[in-house]
Amino acid sequence: MNQPAVRVNSWNEWDPLREIVVGVADNACFEPSEPGYRPALRDTDAPFPTGPKPAEMIDRANAQLDGLAAVLEAQGVTVRRPDAIDLRSALRTPTFEVDNQYCVVCPRDVMITLGNEIVEASMSRRARYFEYQAYRTLVYEYWNADPNMVWTVAPKPTMADSMYRQDFWDWPLAERHARMHESEFCVTQDEVVFDAADMNRFGRDIVVQESMTTNRAGIRWLKRHLEPRGFRVHPVHFPLDFFPSHIDCTFVPLRPGLILTNPERPLREGEEQMFLGNDWELVDVPQPTSTNEEMPRYCQSSKWLSMNVLSISPTKVVCEEREKPLQDLLDKLGFEVVPVPFRDVFEYGGSLHCATWDVNREGTAEDYFP
Ligand code: ARG
Repeated sequence: MNQPAVRVNSWNEWDPLREIVVGVADNACFEPSEPGYRPALRDTDAPFPTGPKPAEMIDRANAQLDGLAAVLEAQGVTVRRPDAIDLRSALRTPTFEVDNQYCVVCPRDVMITLGNEIVEASMSRRARYFEYQAYRTLVYEYWNADPNMVWTVAPKPTMADSMYRQDFWDWPLAERHARMHESEFCVTQDEVVFDAADMNRFGRDIVVQESMTTNRAGIRWLKRHLEPRGFRVHPVHFPLDFFPSHIDCTFVPLRPGLILTNPERPLREGEEQMFLGNDWELVDVPQPTSTNEEMPRYCQSSKWLSMNVLSISPTKVVCEEREKPLQDLLDKLGFEVVPVPFRDVFEYGGSLHCATWDVNREGTAEDYFP
C-alpha cells in the first residue's frame, strides 16, 4: 500500500531543505501609514509614497525573487510561490479601514511551519491582515495531500484604534532608552498579536521575541497552544532595539550549537544562559556593507538585513551577494556560501530569510536544550 506523502515537516531553521515558498512582488503597494506602522523617508520630511508601487520597481524585485527561486531549485529544493492576490484596493472591516494592503514578498512574517503544523499568524498591522489569503491555495494543497498536517489559524485581533498605542511613535529617544526594559511598543497587551517572523525554531524549543509585532498576549497564546503539543516556548528580548520587529535580523541560528548574533542588539541579561549553558556559541556578525542611510530609499528595515540569511542545510547558507564580510565569517565557520543578489527586494520588508517560508526540511523534533 502506498504511504500518504509527508508534505509538511520542518522543525528548525537549518536542516536540509526540501520544499520552500518564495514570495512574489506582483501587485505590491507602499506600506500605508497606520497605527501599527509609520513608514518614513530617511533623508527628508517629504511624505512616504502611497498606493501601488511602480511596475519597474516590482519587476526588479521579481527578477531577484525569481533568481533566488532558480538558485534553490538548482540545489534540488522544490520552490513554490504564493498567489499574486489583489492588494491595491481599500479594505473595510467592522473594526478598521486601510487604503491598500502591502505585498506578499515576505511569507516568513505570516506563515510558520512547526513540525507537521502550519500556523497562520494573527498579524499586527492592518495592511497585512489578509495576507494569509495568498498562501491558502498552497495550504489547501498540503492539507489535502498530507493527512498528518495540522493547520492552525491564530485568533485575528480587531486592529481597532484601541489596540494600538499611538504615542509610541512620538516618544523621544531618551524616553525609548528609559523604557527599554518595559517591552511596551505600538501594540497594547489586550489582544493576541504576533507575526510569525518573531520566532526562531530549535526543534522542541521555540524562541519568540517581544516586539512591535508580537506582544505578551501573543506569546501567551503561543505557549498555551504549543506547550501541550510538546514544544517549549521561550520569550526573548533585545532591549537596545528600540523598534524591534521580526527576530531574523537579530538572532539567527545556523546549525546545532551556533547562532549568529547582532553586535548592536544584545540579549536581555540572563536570557543567553539557555544557549551558553547548553554549549551553544553566539557569534556576532561583522558590520553590514551599507549604513542605514545607504539602504535602498524606500527600505524601512535596518542595515542588519545583511544577516538575514537562509540555510539550505547545516553546512550551506544563502547570503546576499554584497555582504562579503559576513560571507568570510560564514566561510571561517565552515559553511559553503551561496551568494545571491537581493537588494531590490529590501524595500518590501526583508531579505533572504524573510522572503521565504520553509514547509519541508529533513529531520525531526530534536531536544537541543535538555
Ligand atoms: N526589523 C528588522 C530590522 O530592521 C527587519 C526584520 C525583517 N524581517 C522579516 N522577517 N521581515 O533589523
